[in-house]
Amino acid sequence: MNTEARENPLLRLSNDHEEVLEVLAKLKSDLTDVERKVEMGVLSRLKNICQYFEQPVNLHIRLEEEALFPILGQYLPREGGPIAVMLYEHSVYREFLKEFEETLLLLRRVPESMALRDRLLYIGRELVQLLTGHIHKEERILFVLANLNLTLSQKNEMLFQMERIQNAEVAI
Ligand SMILES: [Fe+2]
Ligand SMILES: [Fe+2]
Repeated sequence: MNTEARENPLLRLSNDHEEVLEVLAKLKSDLTDVERKVEMGVLSRLKNICQYFEQPVNLHIRLEEEALFPILGQYLPREGGPIAVMLYEHSVYREFLKEFEETLLLLRRVPESMALRDRLLYIGRELVQLLTGHIHKEERILFVLANLNLTLSQKNEMLFQMERIQNAEVAI
């Protein structure tokens, strides 16, 4: 991590976004492969992508929900505003991910099932669309507001909370 990212917690979250967008591009192309032919190789790649969602992405979401939103909430309405939209999209993402993982597990057992393949393609593409739009909204609206409003001491508080959460996850 470079010094700037260490000092600016928002930059740290933005770096995560870039990485997530790269993984989403891989997910999209893997789904195209599944559409052509269901093979164990591509299903294994999708399983690895799910692990990426389960760990770094879920941690990223925790950092936003527990370290950014409470502080940013002092400047924005908690209900009906952009934070409420982000929280809602996080919950939809969690549901999509769960369904994607369940469908993938079943398809690995029954790779000839077209119904499962279609379900996986549908939910996977919904997931890509949701997260891409979500990241763009955070980058263009939420993080811009945060950069404008948060004081240096609030950014330090945010960094402190982020490190506390990350260390607690590592300890589990
Ligand atoms: Fe988010
Ligand atoms: Fe995010």
